[in-house]
Amino acid sequence: MPLNELDIFADILAFHVEAGVDAALGEAPIDRFKESAAEASARAAARPAAVTPAARPASVPQNAQPAPRPEPRRPAPPPPAAPMMSTAAPPPPDVATVEAREAAMSAPTLEALRTILEGFDGCPLKHTATRLVFSDGNPQARLMFVGEAPGRDEDIEGKPFVGRSGKLLDRMMAAIGLDRTSAYIANVVPWRPPGNRTPTPQETAICLPFIRRQIELANPDMLVCLGGPSAQTLLGIKDGITKARGRWGQYDTGTRTIPALATFHPAYLLRTPLGKRMAWRDFLAISKALGELPARST
Ligand code: URA
Repeated sequence: MPLNELDIFADILAFHVEAGVDAALGEAPIDRFKESAAEASARAAARPAAVTPAARPASVPQNAQPAPRPEPRRPAPPPPAAPMMSTAAPPPPDVATVEAREAAMSAPTLEALRTILEGFDGCPLKHTATRLVFSDGNPQARLMFVGEAPGRDEDIEGKPFVGRSGKLLDRMMAAIGLDRTSAYIANVVPWRPPGNRTPTPQETAICLPFIRRQIELANPDMLVCLGGPSAQTLLGIKDGITKARGRWGQYDTGTRTIPALATFHPAYLLRTPLGKRMAWRDFLAISKALGELPARST
């Protein structure tokens, strides 16, 4: 029986959902078939007239100048497509990292840092995420948690750890008498990577100056890295999280050194409930260490 158009669209949609596509990147639909045909002809016409040694005919001497090529035919301009996102190309990663460092250091307060991040275009993740996910909790708290990067729920709400793993983090905090008024929460990368993939080393490097500055400005007395990527990025831990968790280290905020601990990411604990026993030990250690902190001056 021939499929009607609706069936075909339903199949395509089902395929996307199964493949994990759960968000559209733009408001307006784009005809990808038309777009790719136009792009292909534009690319063919713009291809440089390079003659590689391997492609050069045997009869042509190595130092001969290639014959002038006829002017390529100009392709028809592509049909106007609805803009999906900013078309300005982000700067190359090393330039973006330098710009990020300068921008982050120029922030005198957390609010200024948030505003600077809102306007920062150097990280490609900004262009696929719905919004910036800066922080939640109490910036005056003595304890700061740092995760890896926002997921789907965080991308929608604009706050870190509000989805399933966030609910588990809340329960773990509650188990040692804490809540979001007694902890400050952020991520190494403040924009959701598409499909919740792991941020690339380049994306992490670009975002690193911002989270470092965020920690410096929040000035907590204790840092807890949630998961391996956060611990590797901020604490320089090379071991896997299973080995590294529960070991106290130190973090240099830029103005002082504070105790730091790595523990399992709540998302890992949702997948691996056996890890909760170890995580519970870590949270007891956090509670004990918080109780032993010297009183804050003022
Ligand atoms: N995972 C993270 O690392 N951060 C969030 O904010 C949510 C899930």
